[in-house]
Amino acid sequence: MVFAPKIASRIAAKDAEMPRPAHANGSALARDRILEAVNALPPLPAVALRVMQVAQDPKSSAAQLALVVSADPALSARMLRVANSAAYRRSREVTSVQEALVVLGFVQARNIAISTAITGAYPADTLHVLFRIDAFWRHSLAVAFRASDLAGRTRRLDVPSAFTAGVLHNIGRMAMFHADPAGLDQAIAEAIRSGRSIEEVEREQLGYDHAELGGLLAEKWKLPADICAAIGQHHQEAGEGQPSLASVVAEADRFCVSHGILPGYVVPGAPGVVVVPDGEVAQVLKQVDTLMASITQEPSGVHLVP
Ligand SMILES: [Fe+2]
Repeated sequence: MVFAPKIASRIAAKDAEMPRPAHANGSALARDRILEAVNALPPLPAVALRVMQVAQDPKSSAAQLALVVSADPALSARMLRVANSAAYRRSREVTSVQEALVVLGFVQARNIAISTAITGAYPADTLHVLFRIDAFWRHSLAVAFRASDLAGRTRRLDVPSAFTAGVLHNIGRMAMFHADPAGLDQAIAEAIRSGRSIEEVEREQLGYDHAELGGLLAEKWKLPADICAAIGQHHQEAGEGQPSLASVVAEADRFCVSHGILPGYVVPGAPGVVVVPDGEVAQVLKQVDTLMASITQEPSGVHLVP
């Protein structure tokens, strides 16, 4: 089975009848597997949670954000580096987080702080072949910007919450990766081979998908209920009624996937074919590129399928 090696071996000790499809005999085994995968992911750093709390509190100020950022040396250094980069050319060097926030502006500083705190917790490593963490975060950030835009258009939904939910919407897949890197690579290979989505393959092999897993993780981290719901429901079909945080994140995810900004893998295009994004896609990718350059200080590149 696709996700066999690590998760199955741990569960085998508890369940002598393994292997068997998780969905074939009720929810107990599937639940065990979900909890195993949840526990495999290193916890979100405290600074990430504090940045999210401050960023989402409408009463919070730039001074409070500066206080939270200042408590984390790596995040402070990143903020100062961005504020002193060519993009924010200054006549003199920025030497304090407070000043960096003024230079960057609250929204940009908030986005950098959230993105750095979350993506920095789960950096790239060499355990994978098809699953690409850089592509994974690029997709997540694209969904974050698109969801923020959609939330802003409603004039009712909280934009910072939409950004955070967008960055975190696929965190369940990151948990699967940490639980079983080779299994995720195999699931991606199967999805590409069969032309199905990875979540279809996940459900077939495990009896649950990364959205369900991510929702549980978000609850475990005690994130706000609407963010937990947005993460857990981001593959639900569009429905009637008022937009919610969950519906804008789901819509943003569909938008990104349909335009080839794939969640953690790249489907090679036809040789010699160069896809040039335009309109709203180009706008989202520009925002992502700018932010990725701030976070990594490296050009992010763009991977699209034709
Ligand atoms: Fe997803």
